[in-house]
Amino acid sequence: MNLFRIDASILPGTSASAELADAVQAEWALAHPDAPVERRHLGTRPLPADAWTLATTAAFTPAPERTSAQLEAVALAAELVGELDRADAVLLAVPLYNYGVSQHFKAWADLVINGAGATTPVLREKPTVLVATKGGGYRPGAPREGWDHSTPYLRRVLVDMWQADLTVIERELTLAATTPGMEDLRDEAARLHGDALDSAREAGRALGKAAARV
Ligand SMILES: Cc1cc2nc3c(=O)[nH]c(=O)nc-3n(C[C@H](O)[C@H](O)[C@H](O)COP(=O)(O)O)c2cc1C
Repeated sequence: MNLFRIDASILPGTSASAELADAVQAEWALAHPDAPVERRHLGTRPLPADAWTLATTAAFTPAPERTSAQLEAVALAAELVGELDRADAVLLAVPLYNYGVSQHFKAWADLVINGAGATTPVLREKPTVLVATKGGGYRPGAPREGWDHSTPYLRRVLVDMWQADLTVIERELTLAATTPGMEDLRDEAARLHGDALDSAREAGRALGKAAARV
């Protein structure tokens, strides 16, 4: 039994997504106290930006002509797929950056797709929790409704491509407490923070139970 966790925050010291992922992981650990947790931090240890290109072009290069850089990238893609294959449960903490998905997470996802094949459901029925944090607000009626282009992408990949058994914990307005101009949103932000922590603990408990059944 093991949990595989990915973090993608570029600011790990103050990370709102890590706080929620920690809450998920703590509940998981109560159910599986001796189970290892394998971690990869994409924000502090990004994958090489050219790895996906190298792994992709390797497929179009006759084997004897592949460069060592291409071979390393192919091996890295296989290693990333192996991490998912070994996991009984998966936890992903991914912030919204510039209205899109973290480039570091995208580099990881592209390599996994390369290594596993685009039509392989690498997380088929695997209990998976996605924590998505955003500085602003994107709910229906918000001025920037529809500007969060990260969470829909993540759902598309995790559920539609990889067939994960997915629970999503979203926390919005994470910047309200510290950003001038967002003062009016602070009460709402505090409420959303509390709700997200409650949801994270609940998701962690469910993750522990679901992984035991797989
Ligand atoms: C470089 C940068 C870009 C960001 N871009 C956005 C953005 O486009 N929209 C938004 O709502 N929040 C944005 N944020 C805020 C983060 O989504 C928010 O702080 C979130 O809590 C980050 O997760 P973390 O605390 O785990 O690092 C950005 C933050 C940084 C550092």
